[in-house]
Amino acid sequence: MSKPIYVLNGPNLNLLGEREPEIYGSSTLDDVRAACEARAASFGREVVFRQSNHEGDLVSWLQEARSKAGGVVLNAAAYGHTSVALHDALKMVSLPVIDCHLSNPDARESFRHHSYVALAAKGVVSGFGVISYELAVEAACRLAAD
Ligand code: DQA
Repeated sequence: MSKPIYVLNGPNLNLLGEREPEIYGSSTLDDVRAACEARAASFGREVVFRQSNHEGDLVSWLQEARSKAGGVVLNAAAYGHTSVALHDALKMVSLPVIDCHLSNPDARESFRHHSYVALAAKGVVSGFGVISYELAVEAACRLAAD
């Protein structure tokens, strides 16, 4: 039985659809979840989909993923730009980890150009809205060993 892909979401993504829709679009996080589940299902995999506004939750879920996941899609949101703790947690995850963003942080304010997550990820998908998640889930499924 293939292990699930963990899709982990950071702060403020619970308000997707209401939050700056001109940047992040009108889809809700439930829409994102459904898109991730559909793409994973086409590869015979399930998704564990979670969101938290708390940095420590994301650290704990990454530690859990080490033994329970086949791969990880992480949109750490603002914590990607600030969190050494997430970077250190990712360094202990020897699974394909895809750094995922709805917007393209490199085309936005300079404080979004640095990513502690990208430095420890296999690759980055950004700028395509919900499609970023679909592509990231596909990459995680195709790269997953277990
Ligand atoms: C984001 C981009 C981040 O810069 C921002 O802090 C977010 C969302 C994105 O998905 O585009 O909260 O990760």
